[in-house]
Amino acid sequence: METAFIQLAYIAAAILFIFGLKMLGSAKTARRGNRLSALGMLIAVVATLFTQGLAFPYIVAGVLIGGAIGAAAAVRVPMTSMPEFVALFNGFGGMASLLVGWAEYQRNLSVWAADAAPFVTVLAIFLAVFIGGVTFSGSLVAYGKLSEKISGKPLLFKGQHIVNGGIIAGALVCAVLFMANADNPAIAMGYAPFLVAGALALTLGVLATAPIGGADMPVVISLLNSYSGLAACAAGFVIGNTVLIVSGALVGASGMILTTIMCKAMNRSLANVLFSGFGAAGGAAGGAQQGEAKPITVEDAYFVLEAANKVVFVPGYGMAVAQAQHAVRELGELLEANGAEVSYCVHPVAGRMPGHMNVLLAEANVPYEQLVEIEDINPIMGTVDVAIVIGANDVVNPGAREDPTSSIYGMPIVNVDHARTCFVLKRSMASGFAGVENPLFFKENNRMLFGDAKASVQGLVAEFKDA
Ligand code: TAP
Repeated sequence: METAFIQLAYIAAAILFIFGLKMLGSAKTARRGNRLSALGMLIAVVATLFTQGLAFPYIVAGVLIGGAIGAAAAVRVPMTSMPEFVALFNGFGGMASLLVGWAEYQRNLSVWAADAAPFVTVLAIFLAVFIGGVTFSGSLVAYGKLSEKISGKPLLFKGQHIVNGGIIAGALVCAVLFMANADNPAIAMGYAPFLVAGALALTLGVLATAPIGGADMPVVISLLNSYSGLAACAAGFVIGNTVLIVSGALVGASGMILTTIMCKAMNRSLANVLFSGFGAAGGAAGGAQQGEAKPITVEDAYFVLEAANKVVFVPGYGMAVAQAQHAVRELGELLEANGAEVSYCVHPVAGRMPGHMNVLLAEANVPYEQLVEIEDINPIMGTVDVAIVIGANDVVNPGAREDPTSSIYGMPIVNVDHARTCFVLKRSMASGFAGVENPLFFKENNRMLFGDAKASVQGLVAEFKDA
């Protein structure tokens, strides 16, 4: 009876997850989808608490410690650090799966010594530990790169592919040895390959993530996200928990879809991202001046905007740093009131996490209908009077289109340099995350509006209001 109730609750939770996820596909229904999924999670958690034989003191201790850490992080971590914290949380998901797999193996070893180990459970334990380990250490590297605690550039060494190949081969040998001896109580037989595989997984996570850097980070982040789901799915098989299997599979599959989207946004294949050390060859690395950038004042920029009929905003990571989204929306409204047609073009890899810019624009209540895709705006960019780049850099870098030596060559960009006039709002001539110089700054039709993006946009807003 109890089990039937729990299983029914799990099915209800799984249905809510699936519908919630579907609703996240559109900005209009995303909030409802989020609530629906959260309700599903609540149902799943409450139902799980009815499972027989739970050690409640440990659960309460876990909730209190985890809750305290989470609450402290929520209060102290600034919004601009969210991308790296999302990477960290992702890694902890992988570590949780690793620990579940390990604990279950430890718990079952004596039982299996008397009664042969079930194949599926042993395989699931191995996968939970291995994928969880890769996810954990890989996410720590991603965290370091996003928070700039370690260089965002690809870290390469000679023979890297051979070392990684050796690790994978070693892990396969460990898998075979472990599967064959999982129920052997002699430590050297089952436990040793199990522990070696765990160590190899942690090493592989670091070595596979370190060579990927610069503009390729979005692909790694979505891939690690997918891995964390797969690890959770395997952990679900380990403990025979249906809802964990379903939710892990959903995260794994949606992470894979996101990875494909990110690869498409970079115009690169997954294999190319994973194995080429993209961005390592310097190309047009920052530093070499390519001409003279022309600055513009807020007052002069206002006069150009005041006469514009068609304006496109292109937000980037700097908008998140400056928290300029509300001021940008206000400027957009003033431009519309002045008779201009206003739209916003978000590059899929703009910012530091998938959907980063979309979330900020939605938070500022920018109408969803005003968002345009790159494929739609680029062909008509010549008809745009002013393209306003708000703290974006790599995603508007014409070098990606024109310079085969550039390390981001081939990545589709928003062609703001094809607009009649382009304003770039940033604080300096510094390069973006990929570390490459941006020839856009030196183009004839480009003007640099130096300063914090929020202050600059607020200055323009003030000019419109005072007029
Ligand atoms: P970036 O190329 O990183 O450029 C951001 C620019 O914002 C910087 O050049 C910086 O110039 C400017 N900035 C910073 N603070 C500012 C402020 N307060 N006011 C005004 N400007 C400010 O950003 P992007 O164009 O959005 O491109 C994203 C990059 O990150 C890509 O290379 C992408 O591959 C990578 N990446 C993306 C993700 C995801 S999932 N989206 C994850 C990891 C990495 P100043 O310092 O001169 O102001």
